[in-house]
Amino acid sequence: MKIVALFPETDEGLDNQLLNTDKAIGLREFLKDSDHELVILKNGEEDLDKHLSDMDIVISAPFYPAYMTKERIEKAPNLKLAITAGVGSDHVDLDAASKHDVGVVEVTGSNTVSVAEHAVMDLLIVLRNFMEGHRQSVEGEWDLSKVGNQARELQNKTIGIFGFGRIGQLVAERLKPFNVTIQHYDPINQKDNENSKFVEFEELVKTSDAITIHAPLTPSTDNLFDEDVLSKMKKGSYLVNTARGKIVNTQALVDAVNSGQIQGYAGDVWYPQPAPADHPWRTMPRNGMTIHYSGMTLESQKRIEDGVKDILNRFFNNEAFQDKDVIVSSGKISSSSYTAK
Ligand SMILES: NC(=O)c1ccc[n+]([C@@H]2O[C@H](COP(=O)([O-])OP(=O)(O)OC[C@H]3O[C@@H](n4cnc5c(N)ncnc54)[C@H](O)[C@@H]3O)[C@@H](O)[C@H]2O)c1
Repeated sequence: MKIVALFPETDEGLDNQLLNTDKAIGLREFLKDSDHELVILKNGEEDLDKHLSDMDIVISAPFYPAYMTKERIEKAPNLKLAITAGVGSDHVDLDAASKHDVGVVEVTGSNTVSVAEHAVMDLLIVLRNFMEGHRQSVEGEWDLSKVGNQARELQNKTIGIFGFGRIGQLVAERLKPFNVTIQHYDPINQKDNENSKFVEFEELVKTSDAITIHAPLTPSTDNLFDEDVLSKMKKGSYLVNTARGKIVNTQALVDAVNSGQIQGYAGDVWYPQPAPADHPWRTMPRNGMTIHYSGMTLESQKRIEDGVKDILNRFFNNEAFQDKDVIVSSGKISSSSYTAK
C-alpha cells in the first residue's frame, strides 16, 4: 500500500521531537521490512495533490493538517484510511469520507491531559494578565498600574466549559482545587458531576467569567462563537480555546477584544493552519495565543506514535480498530462527538 504522511519540517538538533519529517513518529523503521511504500511529504501540503491518484492511506496531525477536502477525497480513488496522528479529525471532510467509504481514525485520548493542562494555564495567563506582565519584563518596563489594572485571581470565578468530554472533564478536575464554580454545556453529557454543573448554552454564555472551549469542530460548532454569542458573554469576561480555531469567528473576536467586551483570549488553535503571518489573532490586544502545540508535548507525541502504529497494525492485519479511535467507518460518522447537536 502507498502511505502518504505529512509532518512539520525540522531543524538539526531538535532531537526530542517525534512529529516531524526527520523522525516521522518512527514510521520509516516501522515499515522498512514491509511491502508498503511510505512517502513523507517534503513541501507541506503542496505535494499532497501529486499523490492523490494512487495513495491508500493518508496520515497527518491536527497541528499541521493535510486538509482532506471533498475535492481531494474525490481525486483519491484508492484511499481507504485517513489517520489522525492526534485528536480531532475535522481536517478531513467527514461526509465525503463517509460517502467514499474512507475510514477515519484518530488516537483518541493520546493528548487529553496535555491539552487540559494547557487550558488551565491559559485561564491563569489571561486572568492574571500575564501577557502584559511578561511583555514589560522583556521590554524593560516597570509600569505596575498598567499590569495590575487587569490582574485577577481565578478563585471565586465561574468557569464555563463548552464541551464536557475527555478534555473538558479533565479541565474541571484540575480547576476544582482553585476554588472556582464550574459549569458545563454539552448536548450529550448533560449530567452534573462532582466537579461541574450542567447548564444550558445560553446560561453558560451569560453567567461565566471565563469560558474554555473543548468541543470538536462540527457543523453545529463551526463559527458558533460569533458576534452575537460574544456580545452575550459577560462584559470583560475571558475566552480560552484549545479546541479548534474555526469555532470562534476571527473578526468578531478581534472586535470584541478591541472593545473590551472580551478582556483576554488565549489558546493555540487557528484557521487555517499554519496560520498566516498576518492572522489578526497574532497581534490582537491581550491575547495569550501560541501556535498549535498544546497537545504536542513529548509525552503525547510518544502516545501518538504508539497509537498510529497500533492503527496501522490493525489495518494491515484486518483487525477491528479500538472503538474509541473510530470517527468514520463503514460509510458513516460513528463518533457521537461529531454528530452531537
Ligand atoms: N489543541 C490541541 O492540541 C488539541 C488536542 C486534542 C484535542 N483537541 C480538540 O479538542 C476536542 C475535544 O477533545 P476530547 O478528547 O475532549 O473529545 P471528546 O470526544 O472526548 O469530547 C468532546 C465533547 O464535545 C461535545 N460536543 C459535541 N458537539 C458539541 C456542541 N455542539 N456543543 C457542546 N459540546 C459538544 C461532545 O458531546 C463530547 O462530550 C477535539 O475534538 C479536538 O478538536 C485539541
